[in-house]
Amino acid sequence: LDNGVARTPPMGWNSWNTFGCNINESLIRQHADAIVSSGMRDLGYQYVVVDDCWFNPNRDSSGNLQGDPTRFPSGMKALGDYLHARGLKFGLYQVPVDKTCAQYFGAYPGATGSQGHEAQDARQFAAWGVDFLKYDWCSPNGTIDQQVTTFAKMRDALAAAGRPIVYSINPNSIHAKTGPLRNWGDVANMWRTTEDITNTWDSGQTNGYPMGIQNIVNVTVPLASYARPGQFNDPDMMEVGRGGMTDTEMRSHFALWAIMASPLIAGNDLRSMSTATQAILKNANLIAVNQDSLGQQATQVSHDGTRRVLAKRLANGDVAVALFNQGSSTTTVSTTAAAVGKSGTSFTLLDAWTNATSSTSGTISASVPAHGTVVYRVSGGGTTPPPTTTTFVSASSGRC
Ligand code: GLA
Repeated sequence: LDNGVARTPPMGWNSWNTFGCNINESLIRQHADAIVSSGMRDLGYQYVVVDDCWFNPNRDSSGNLQGDPTRFPSGMKALGDYLHARGLKFGLYQVPVDKTCAQYFGAYPGATGSQGHEAQDARQFAAWGVDFLKYDWCSPNGTIDQQVTTFAKMRDALAAAGRPIVYSINPNSIHAKTGPLRNWGDVANMWRTTEDITNTWDSGQTNGYPMGIQNIVNVTVPLASYARPGQFNDPDMMEVGRGGMTDTEMRSHFALWAIMASPLIAGNDLRSMSTATQAILKNANLIAVNQDSLGQQATQVSHDGTRRVLAKRLANGDVAVALFNQGSSTTTVSTTAAAVGKSGTSFTLLDAWTNATSSTSGTISASVPAHGTVVYRVSGGGTTPPPTTTTFVSASSGRC
């Protein structure tokens, strides 16, 4: 979506994965403070997204959305001001249909959805200082065409409200996995590719509820051509730092999200991060790969079912290469400079995790533990013509 924002994948934190409906303004402020004090803000984590359950289930007498007066006693505008004063940006969750996902599952009575209130709600978000809207389908009903129409209404309402707002949609919640069936780049800045993520390496799902890390990777890798500045596949908020996975798996999770040009939205409790978690979320080499200005998502170079190689072209001619081991024992994963789009006979490999550099005349290879991902930034030599992902072909009939 060419609305001027999300020229690189949005980075930030979202309340849902750890806190669900147990949110309030002091929790959100504590997370804002932790983003700053941990150094994450200065590495690019900017958007603080308040997910489901922030609202009063009843609109006011003029039909305006309202924050929950108990959870957010200072009001939503004050929360936005708090974030902006710290150099952060304000994200909120909302749905088009009558109930949010938490309401759908009975957490609240009432109906808060924006359908029929798009212009009024978009103006309200802008007045509160909202910079990011997560708009979630939350209905078992609806065809793709109905979704496109409905999501586009809020896109247009946000544009009319006049404030730059990242538009993040989820066509998949409680719905029949429509994400991968369409390139949503004409509608939104980012769109979920699967059902909800869960805190595990593999949930046994192809694309159902819930999705483990490698299940999401399997769905999202083939969607590489959809990504470009302003529009990114969204494999969901991260589970890094939430237990449930080994450090190797968490590093893989982060490395794969980074190279897939995925939004990097942390979902852990930022007030109590281990050193290992911080080292993952704050890996500057991988953040640079993710935030590269070309905005390309890594394309698949090879995959034998176990050993998977992905390559992401970078603006300065370097190529980031992920050597991913989907198997259950350590193995050597290999490719070549030529296979990832480099020409020449002399290259430098920067290991994104260890910072070690090495030289190669062409072989790019590493011993990778089970579920691990080694990432090299390959520099030197020339760069062969860009891969097809730079030629954007919209899957939809028109662009906004
Ligand atoms: C859906 C979304 C989640 C989260 C919850 C909130 O399940 O996919 O990311 O927003 O709703 O209820």
